[in-house]
Amino acid sequence: MSSPGSTSKTEHASTPPARRVFVGLTGASGHAYGRALLVALTEAHYSVDLALSSAGAKVLLHEQGVATLEDGRIAPQVLSRWLGEKAASNIRVWGREDVGAPPASGTAQGAAVIICPCSMGTLARVAAGFSSNLVERAADVAIKERRRLILVPREAPLSEIHLENMLRLSRLGATIVPASPGFYHLPTSLDDLVEHLVSKILDAAGIERVSAIRWAGLPTEPPAEPGTTREEPS
Ligand SMILES: Cc1cc2nc3c(=O)[nH]c(=O)nc-3n(C[C@H](O)[C@H](O)[C@H](O)COP(=O)(O)O)c2cc1C
Repeated sequence: MSSPGSTSKTEHASTPPARRVFVGLTGASGHAYGRALLVALTEAHYSVDLALSSAGAKVLLHEQGVATLEDGRIAPQVLSRWLGEKAASNIRVWGREDVGAPPASGTAQGAAVIICPCSMGTLARVAAGFSSNLVERAADVAIKERRRLILVPREAPLSEIHLENMLRLSRLGATIVPASPGFYHLPTSLDDLVEHLVSKILDAAGIERVSAIRWAGLPTEPPAEPGTTREEPS
């Protein structure tokens, strides 16, 4: 039974498939990435179908202070408080077990399925084709329909099982975007790190992000010492 837990059903239903994305939040650390991704997708004028795994709901509460309903949905007012009203109005939240929801079917098209953050448990089940909830089923559908699937795993260190599962998924066409932000763009805040990774995820999904910072090559001068500027003091 479909039971969207958020607003904007009409707008979402009329959104063309090419502008719809499924996002799964699972039990890995890194829900700040999930939050920034949801906001960025809606800013890029995409509608989002959102679902959480059971562990995803626990880690979301721990890291972001966002409580879910018993079935894994997020109440509309909670979603608005977390993401802002504008973003929340373009997100439809589905129950964890809601395998009757459109993202569970290959007939309901979308631009991409993104699992961010992606736990090693979810990654293993997706690699095995074992769908125990809506997040895993949406990924299974993306693989069988040969649509874009982006997984953002976070674990350290990685075992051979993790690495083999990632290789298997990559060979099946998924893009693995590890939650390992770079420092070459000289971030000055956690937000800079988070947004950099979100831009990489959107690139992998083929979604244009106007605010993405693009590498323009190393500066010709040697890099400044941390905490100093490049210019000579005048
Ligand atoms: C606070 C917290 C942080 C966790 N961080 C990770 C992590 O970074 N990566 C990971 O693979 N599992 C992590 N786990 C363990 C997973 O949540 C656990 O394996 C869970 O069964 C995954 O379920 P899911 O794949 O259905 O979301 C974490 C658990 C907790 C409670």
